[in-house]
Amino acid sequence: MLTSIEQDLSQIFGEAFELLDLPFELGQVQRSNRPDLADFQCNGAMAAAKLGAGNPFVTAESVVAKLSENNFVETLSVVRPGFINILVKRDYLAQKLSQLASDQTFGCAEDLSGHKVMIDFGGPNVAKSMHVGHLRTAIIGDSLQRIFRFKGYQVVSDAHLGDWGTQMGMLIEGVKKRQPDLIYFDPQVTTGYPEESPVTIADLEEIYPTESALCKTDPTAAEKARKATLELQDGRAGYRTLWKHFVAVSVATLKRDYGELGVGFDLWKGESDADPFIPPLLEELANKAISIQDQGALIVPFRDEAGENVMPPLILRKSDGAVMYGTTDLATLYERVRDDKAQTVLYVVDGRQQQHFKQVFAAADLLGFNETTQYEHSYFGTVNGKDGKPFKTRSGGVMKLHDLIQMAKQQARKKLAESNFGADFPEAEKEEIAHKVAIATLKFADLRNFRIKDYIFDLEKFSEFEGKTGPYLLMQVARIKSILRKAQAVNAEAGDLLATSDNEKTLSFRLLSFQATIDRTVEKRAPHYLCEHLYNLAQEFSSFYQKQHIMKEADKAKQASLLRLSEICMQQLEVGLQLLGIETLERM
Ligand code: ARG
Repeated sequence: MLTSIEQDLSQIFGEAFELLDLPFELGQVQRSNRPDLADFQCNGAMAAAKLGAGNPFVTAESVVAKLSENNFVETLSVVRPGFINILVKRDYLAQKLSQLASDQTFGCAEDLSGHKVMIDFGGPNVAKSMHVGHLRTAIIGDSLQRIFRFKGYQVVSDAHLGDWGTQMGMLIEGVKKRQPDLIYFDPQVTTGYPEESPVTIADLEEIYPTESALCKTDPTAAEKARKATLELQDGRAGYRTLWKHFVAVSVATLKRDYGELGVGFDLWKGESDADPFIPPLLEELANKAISIQDQGALIVPFRDEAGENVMPPLILRKSDGAVMYGTTDLATLYERVRDDKAQTVLYVVDGRQQQHFKQVFAAADLLGFNETTQYEHSYFGTVNGKDGKPFKTRSGGVMKLHDLIQMAKQQARKKLAESNFGADFPEAEKEEIAHKVAIATLKFADLRNFRIKDYIFDLEKFSEFEGKTGPYLLMQVARIKSILRKAQAVNAEAGDLLATSDNEKTLSFRLLSFQATIDRTVEKRAPHYLCEHLYNLAQEFSSFYQKQHIMKEADKAKQASLLRLSEICMQQLEVGLQLLGIETLERM
């Protein structure tokens, strides 16, 4: 793997410390916090003083004296109390950057194909259209799957549909009420059902809320729904067949919405797929005395040594025999650990489900799943309206995801028209631009915040062409592309990077810090680090472009180098945006 400048420098400084009989680790070099004075600094002499090495200033001078011949360092200076300031050679910097840019992943990818990461995100529910609450899991989960894949992990994403709870019984009863003569309800019939679905997604979207409201007030209806759910789970043929139609028509709509967002899954499994794993799971829990019977229910208690409950128990099976949300999650994890052999399982799910995952994970620990697998709730905060409460439509209803995307598109069209972008472009291209701008708007606005924070949905602000927004980044990429096209038109070609001037240096250091940014993003499962990097890069390119008159540059070698640097910036911005799930535009 390509070494970073920090690694190259830390190596020779470490060796110098060793020559003074001091630990190699003291040679650790980092970016300078005074970029006006130095590129990098080494603070090891101060740490050495704590180990009894004496005056840090003297130590620092001795380290400098012991430093081996190298091609990295331009100048060194020791400042009190004992900092070593380092300026690197510009041709070394240029060479580092060319090496990095010759790699498609900018030196990020490693061979991690033996490490399987399963990412559980999306979590849409059958018969319910997705709403704003499903936006964050889709955007963050998708970005994480892209980034982990880019880093070299073997990634498997799973939508984990909500397709197995009491809602399913409510739907069955709801359909029965509306179309009582359907063959699915005849207990005598077990095969030969018609191919076609008796319901559309519109039917389901009407039936579900009606029945769900009814079950809250009418115990008889609730009891019927509960019974239908049990029969479904027990395998009653007509119910299973009907239920498969519910899932299929829902999935078709879900695919449309996820498609618009540019979000995909490797697996479209659901809670129901955990069903075959429930019996062996319950058996193992019982054999290991992890589960107990409690007032007819089967539970996993969580107790400390003194026998005190440390958190509420996980309910596996209610006294009526129904399994719960936690049971299907634990059984799904059982499959992921035992059959899929995942080393890491990430749950990109709303922070309001923290307690649920704590219970599921605690039960998993008792089963020893943590010996082979690391599971984590990579949770996120809420999207709020300007009133600080969860975002709603104007009339106070639930904001459907599909409508939200249409709103963002409408806003993009408006903004584009206002600023006269692409006024003369063909209609189809204008629509494509509006779509990509809308998606960039929504995704960047979400991902730029650390995921655990809530944020306020402000489409006006998110869609600005200035500031830390998706449209700003798209515009910067389109701008660099246009510069490169202009250069090509006059046969000005990109060439070798040369020893660089000051603003090129800033840009080069930024480009070189991509690797560290990606590693941080992976480690914290937090794409906002990448957003920050891309925004800074775009801004630094902007000031570089203002200072360097690329097209007017008379020195052809210099011009070629500036063009090369611009090209690298464009590539890194594009790769980075792709990792956020944002597609770029050729022009706008
Ligand atoms: N369907 C669930 C909901 O809408 C989210 C599922 C999250 N994933 C999981 N493995 N529990 O709340």
